[in-house]
Amino acid sequence: MKIYAHRGYSGRYPENTMLAFQEAAKTGCDGIELDVQLTKDGQVVVIHDETIDRTTNGTGRVVDYSFQELEKFNAAARYEGKYDFCPIPSFEEYLKWAAGEKLVTNIEIKTGVYYYEALEEKTIQLVRQYGLEDRVFFSSFNHMSLVKVKELAPNALCGALLEHSGIGNAGYYCSRFGFGAYHPGYKGLTEKEVKGCHERGVKVNVWTVNDMNTLEQLYDWGCDGIFTNYPSICKAWVDSKEK
Ligand code: G3P
Ligand code: CA
Repeated sequence: MKIYAHRGYSGRYPENTMLAFQEAAKTGCDGIELDVQLTKDGQVVVIHDETIDRTTNGTGRVVDYSFQELEKFNAAARYEGKYDFCPIPSFEEYLKWAAGEKLVTNIEIKTGVYYYEALEEKTIQLVRQYGLEDRVFFSSFNHMSLVKVKELAPNALCGALLEHSGIGNAGYYCSRFGFGAYHPGYKGLTEKEVKGCHERGVKVNVWTVNDMNTLEQLYDWGCDGIFTNYPSICKAWVDSKEK
């Protein structure tokens, strides 16, 4: 079972920052999950919310700032001095770093709340620019964005994100749209649904797993991957099972 660091090593470091990604890489986890949105001047940036209020010392919508304006805010602000200034990274800065690492990256396209015109195109173009096509997979709660990714990059692996309630017959749903993976929240998932996905060749990657009971259950069900804020503990546990 693969361990993906959710928003980087976000259990200990400011989420979706280069610090959180670099610290995740040190844990030996299999990959990193991050979220992308678009600035006013059309730059792809790594941030979870549509606004900067929760994670930085600024306020307002990502889409109302240019990247130059946005990178002045401190994404480590809520840690109150524990960490030095951490800017919101551009997706390009992340890719430049990731190109020198062995990790894979799950790019979540954040078009579920605010629809960013051309976010899919710009994201794929940057991935191609850094030659990382084989080391990324895409996900989104907006499955139309995934359909678009498949149109632009037919070989790209896409994971359909669902809330905890999931979707009935997930294996059929995903394979019908050419999505190679199902990404449900862990609460409503059943062993039967995992089996149904596997029978149709669909991988199951589950979010966001931060307790050992859930980790163990998903491992026993044969899930393919989990997203966690604590990659160090989860990776060590999985390694101990597989030795
Ligand atoms: O990909 C799993 C997870 O990241 C989805 O939820 O809200 O953390 O982006 P969220
Ligand atoms: Ca995410």
